[in-house]
Amino acid sequence: MSEISETNQQRRTFLGILLGGVVAVLGAVFAWPVFRFLAPREGAGEGDQVRVPKKEIQVGGAHFFSFQGRPAVLLQPRAGDYVALSAVCTHLGCIVKWVNDKGEFLCPCHGGRFSAAGQVLGGPPPKPLETYSLKIEDTDLLVG
Ligand code: FES
Repeated sequence: MSEISETNQQRRTFLGILLGGVVAVLGAVFAWPVFRFLAPREGAGEGDQVRVPKKEIQVGGAHFFSFQGRPAVLLQPRAGDYVALSAVCTHLGCIVKWVNDKGEFLCPCHGGRFSAAGQVLGGPPPKPLETYSLKIEDTDLLVG
């Protein structure tokens, strides 16, 4: 009787350790994406700047790039006139697209429209696209 009880106890201990391991692995699997979402993004430091050659931005065209880990866009609405904006829609955070023939941004999620300067032209966005500081250095543009 004592031998059976001891075997049962060993089995319970083994199953407890096994269950604990499975719970730990599942916890890590579900916690990792949450951690990655909440953790600061790479390159999100205050002093980070992005250098883009001017030749990458056509007059009337848009050049999308990543700034501080987030989508951004550079425009040259008129020759020698540059604008740096966030490409994240201010409604619910979708990435806007540049519509070249209309000269405006369109958000594909709910139809929000923004001017080349980032001002709201229509749709649900509550405020303009965020504007980034921009410096011209010889053949390059410095964003940030
Ligand atoms: S997320 Fe852009 S209009 Fe809704």
